[in-house]
Amino acid sequence: MATEQSFQVRKLQLSDKGKGFIDLLRQLSVCDPISDEDFEARFQELSSHGDDHLICVIEDERQGKIVATGCVFVEKKFLRNCGKVGHIEDVVVDSGARGLHLGKKIVEFLADHARSKGCYKVILDCSSENKAFYERCGFKEKEIQMVQYFV
Ligand SMILES: CC(C)(COP(=O)(O)OP(=O)(O)OC[C@H]1O[C@@H](n2cnc3c(N)ncnc32)[C@H](O)[C@@H]1OP(=O)(O)O)[C@@H](O)C(=O)NCCC(=O)NCCS
Repeated sequence: MATEQSFQVRKLQLSDKGKGFIDLLRQLSVCDPISDEDFEARFQELSSHGDDHLICVIEDERQGKIVATGCVFVEKKFLRNCGKVGHIEDVVVDSGARGLHLGKKIVEFLADHARSKGCYKVILDCSSENKAFYERCGFKEKEIQMVQYFV
């Protein structure tokens, strides 16, 4: 039986594509198959931003399977004395691993990263169904989200 302690948060690695990373993202939104070449190109592009763009994962090492992920990127502003804001995106836990506090572990890791990079706040968008989850992670509701889709 897996325990909470057996799951460690780490940075995404190129080899995680072969461990179900894309299948996991599919539990969040549309994610068409990606070739190894396209995956590597995007991975390298994101890596070039260094600590300003971080994708983290939790691997179930017994199964060699990625069971949780999330991402944070740092926005640099002129406001607030050239302040910085962390944006959390794409948080998802595998349906078979929910309720083990993996989601909370991911979100806290991402928020800690934003804080350590000097952000004065970290923000995210979520559905009303997930509001209670993010409140458990230390967030509070503020304002509303607007969107304009291009495709
Ligand atoms: C939302 C999601 C990431 C939560 O992951 P999880 O690992 O199951 O959540 P955790 O076990 O870390 O939950 C942390 C706390 O939030 C609570 N919680 C989790 N989901 C909740 C929900 N939908 N409503 C109310 N409370 C919730 C848990 O009970 C737990 O409370 P506790 O600290 O009192 O024990 C996961 O359900 C998921 O991947 N959903 C589908 C994708 C998605 O909607 N992602 C969010 C995009 S914004």
